[in-house]
Amino acid sequence: MALAAASLTLLGAVAFGPAPADGGPVPLVQPAGWPRPTYDATRNPLTGAGVALGRALFYDPGLSRDGTISCASCHLQATGFTHVDHAVSHGIEGRLGRRNSLALVNLAWNPTFHWDGGVNQLDVQALNPITNAAEMDNTLAAVVGTLTRSRAYRGQFARAFRGDSVVTGQRVLLALAQFTSGLVSYRSRYDKYVRHEAGGEFSAQELNGLALFRANCASCHREPLFTDYSFQNNGLALDSQAPDAGRAAITGRAADSLRFRVPSLRNIERTAPYMHDGRFRRLRDVLHHYTAGLHQSATLAPQLRAPLRLSPDEQKDLTAFLLTLTDHDFLTDSRFAYPGAGPAFPTDPAAIQPIPTP
Ligand code: HEC
Ligand code: HEC
Repeated sequence: MALAAASLTLLGAVAFGPAPADGGPVPLVQPAGWPRPTYDATRNPLTGAGVALGRALFYDPGLSRDGTISCASCHLQATGFTHVDHAVSHGIEGRLGRRNSLALVNLAWNPTFHWDGGVNQLDVQALNPITNAAEMDNTLAAVVGTLTRSRAYRGQFARAFRGDSVVTGQRVLLALAQFTSGLVSYRSRYDKYVRHEAGGEFSAQELNGLALFRANCASCHREPLFTDYSFQNNGLALDSQAPDAGRAAITGRAADSLRFRVPSLRNIERTAPYMHDGRFRRLRDVLHHYTAGLHQSATLAPQLRAPLRLSPDEQKDLTAFLLTLTDHDFLTDSRFAYPGAGPAFPTDPAAIQPIPTP
């Protein structure tokens, strides 16, 4: 791993640095210059064993009702933990969701979750995809039942939860949160540039792109997380076939109509298609939107009332800068990858061993 030790601080027990082989507490990577994470790890202390369990669960299709869909079906590492190719997510039996899958990145810094901020804690977020009819269409009770029938999983729960092998719904969610809170992207060329590290050299074009970004985009896509986590209307026309009010559906306030959470732009090269409904396939389409496609409406953000003025050359420079946000170490980090061959527990009901009642 190419970490410059001087640029990182390791805090006790939050998102993970190098995992200890003994399954004990895992330190948080706190990149230099970043704000403190919002994730409260005192409620769910991260351990090597907990993260390993969360990772096994994340990649296990057995969490879905028919054993076909895992979290990773819609959140693939190679694309920054989002769905490739699909505008809106595809779940169980090919059912279509409402929105584009979000990239899972730097979640320990999120004050809220989902495009509309409808979930405010990572520790319970996974209940949503597990029970959503268009995603995994399962119940937490059924997941607990399946996991409890697996000797291997009971052992993993015991290692993760102080020797107690009882599988509970809350522990399933906590283990998933331990894994996902550790998905920290901080090793892109941009990061090396701002930390003055080797490999962080920018070309003149990328430097100009960064200046254009700071002038036009950073008021919402704030460095270093590339979002200020606010809810904004960035001028997308309402899709009349599938109207989505965004934040207003959560708050009930007209002022929040068509506002969505500002997404991070980390690994943006890989996370297409773009926007809450995946309407744009290329970064070129996104820049065309901000310069020539803004749709006026009552809640449109003030910065975007007039189209952004970026010449074709400036748009190329800005795009060159956006490509420096690709974090190859994150996208190929083996600690985040599929943990092993085959599902970790049998999904064929006939192959499941009933547990003897005590
Ligand atoms: C069928 C596709 C699908 C599956 C399966 C799925 N997700 Fe998601 N995920 C999505 C979509 C779509 C969103 C955005 C939802 C929204 O904004 O309404 C999302 C959002 C999230 C977020 C919020 C990210 C943020 O920045 O706010 C997290 C965390 C997450 N998913 C974790 C998981 C976990 C853990 C699992 C497995 C238990 C899972 N997902 C399974 C499609 C999926
Ligand atoms: C007023 C705040 C604001 C400004 C300024 C702004 N954005 Fe955005 N951006 C948003 C919001 C909000 C979304 C999500 C909108 C949605 O999906 O409904 C978004 C989405 C995006 C996406 C899609 C991300 C994804 O994962 O789907 C890209 C790329 C993007 N913006 C780039 C830019 C660039 C480049 C600029 C400057 C030229 C810029 N933005 C300026 C608020 C802003």
